[in-house]
Amino acid sequence: MENNLNFLGRCMYDLDDYSAEEIMHILEASKIMKEINQREYKKVPALKGKTVCTLFFENSTRTLMSFELAASRLSADIVSFNSETSSLAKGESLQDTVYTLDAMGIDCYIIRHSYPGSPQLVHKYSKKPVLNGGDGRHAHPTQALLDMFSIYEKRGSLDGMKIAIVGDIAHSRVVRSNLIGMKKLGAEVTICGPRTLMPGSMEEVYGCRVSYNLQDALKDADVVMGLRMQLERQTDGLFPNLEEYTKHYVLSKETLKYAKHDALIMHPGPMNRGVEILPEIADSDRSLVLQQVANGVAVRMALLYLMLGGRV
Ligand code: CP
Repeated sequence: MENNLNFLGRCMYDLDDYSAEEIMHILEASKIMKEINQREYKKVPALKGKTVCTLFFENSTRTLMSFELAASRLSADIVSFNSETSSLAKGESLQDTVYTLDAMGIDCYIIRHSYPGSPQLVHKYSKKPVLNGGDGRHAHPTQALLDMFSIYEKRGSLDGMKIAIVGDIAHSRVVRSNLIGMKKLGAEVTICGPRTLMPGSMEEVYGCRVSYNLQDALKDADVVMGLRMQLERQTDGLFPNLEEYTKHYVLSKETLKYAKHDALIMHPGPMNRGVEILPEIADSDRSLVLQQVANGVAVRMALLYLMLGGRV
């Protein structure tokens, strides 16, 4: 694969460090990786001899499994660090943990942590490429890349697309990375949710539109993305109860009538079915939810390939 851009050895903390051209290159590389994933034998020797380490301090199904699958399909070796069974539980610091793993010959780290900035910390200690698998409320760049890839694959471009992102904006790292990436690719993004779940200055910081009304936010939308109500990050009193949230913001057949008739429906998962999205929508033909998951493997393969200097 021709690569005139400089990805080798880079980290990905968020998409603000990546230009529109670089993001497009990752999406194009993801197309090639998706083709590999559709073969009967889904493995190429591109990263043979490289070792990837997943450091997940928070729960994950999609991000963890798809990074591991991505590394495996490129023939890299994978080691999975488990914070509960490691010496971290005996009091070893993150710094000494990274020094220890580095001594074993790790080439790349993927970290998920509740602490914003933890990927930068790992890079400080290791100097190896570090990919952010989600750091607190801050960023989740590979989720944003797979979301953008899913739209790009269906529509051919994000330029001028009207995208509505609905839900718990305050606690979402997915929305922040998507706002950065989608704007770079020319999309017009509206974010929508209750005022208590909407941080201030979002328009100024991200160049998006803010709405508190679902009908208004969905008007003429080409893409509608629901966000998970992050019950584990909630503090009391942000909204009366889940039923009240659902009454005003759920994605249903009824509410999606406000969007374009062929609007793509997305959700990063995991979903609270019946809270932010009804099964009639999540499981419908218009839903890209499982295609997003499948695309996540391809996008993460592309990133590992580019950052570790893969060969074909
Ligand atoms: N979307 C996402 O990050 O899912 P996981 O928490 O399962 O990785």
